[in-house]
Amino acid sequence: MRNYGGVTSSIGVSRSQPTQPGTPPLVVAHRGASGELPEHTLAAYDLALRQGADGLECDVRLTRDGKLICMHDRRIDRTSNGSGTVSAMTLDALRAHDYGSWHAEMASRQRAAAALGDPDVDNKNIERYAEPTSVLTLRELLTLVLDWDRPRTLFIETKHPVRYGALVEMKLIAELQRFGLAKRPPSATPPVVMMSFAPSAVFRIRRSAPNLPTVLLGENSRYLGYAPTTSGVPAAIGPSIEMLREHPKVVERARASGRATYVWTVDEKADVELCRDLGVRWIATNYPARTKRVFES
Ligand code: G3P
Ligand code: CA
Repeated sequence: MRNYGGVTSSIGVSRSQPTQPGTPPLVVAHRGASGELPEHTLAAYDLALRQGADGLECDVRLTRDGKLICMHDRRIDRTSNGSGTVSAMTLDALRAHDYGSWHAEMASRQRAAAALGDPDVDNKNIERYAEPTSVLTLRELLTLVLDWDRPRTLFIETKHPVRYGALVEMKLIAELQRFGLAKRPPSATPPVVMMSFAPSAVFRIRRSAPNLPTVLLGENSRYLGYAPTTSGVPAAIGPSIEMLREHPKVVERARASGRATYVWTVDEKADVELCRDLGVRWIATNYPARTKRVFES
């Protein structure tokens, strides 16, 4: 088993520890292998796992009938052939649309790159780029991760502000309880990490599921003095790569306070190397296969 930087105590409980500079970060597939297949689809997540991603990232939203689905935008217009607001639609209504065909443009770009001999293009995937596919529920994604033959971590981001407010985190906890994940003791490879840009959302999770690791995301340096902890498991910080380039010391500051760092969205080789050199624990990327390869060279 890979060393994830966890420390096991005498009673077998693992505590997160920040990563030391020079250690390759764990690679998290942002919305799945979304540089290659349509984001937030089962195919994109399955590809990321087959490419060896250490973790998967997803955004979750609540439907009108209280189901958690994986979707970044408030509306379905960009990533489907339909139109409408997720919070005003039932799961059945969302299922009436196709979430793969919008990616046809990506397929033609990839075909052109393959013709030019781009080693990062996997010909086998191109024909799948625009396959019809349904909306993905959190339940389906959790099942994929838990059924994988090696432990993998699902990073679940709740979006705010949203119509249903704190109900999103309540439903998330209920769903995790259904899988027996809400109260698990901390481990070196947690099956689930909760994230949000909203400190109140992170607080809600830490109050009701203190063992669940959390990441407080942020796009400016002001938030970094504030990453709530209510138990022995440190909350991690989640700056963007743009912010990290400007403020590389945030990683060291987080480390000094016992917190790990998660950086998004890291697609360029120089940025991947910067994260490694600084001791970032997790990097979220749209291209897990080529990002993993950086550490093999
Ligand atoms: O992984 C965190 C990152 O996904 C936050 O930005 O807009 O892609 O959800 P966004
Ligand atoms: Ca996200």
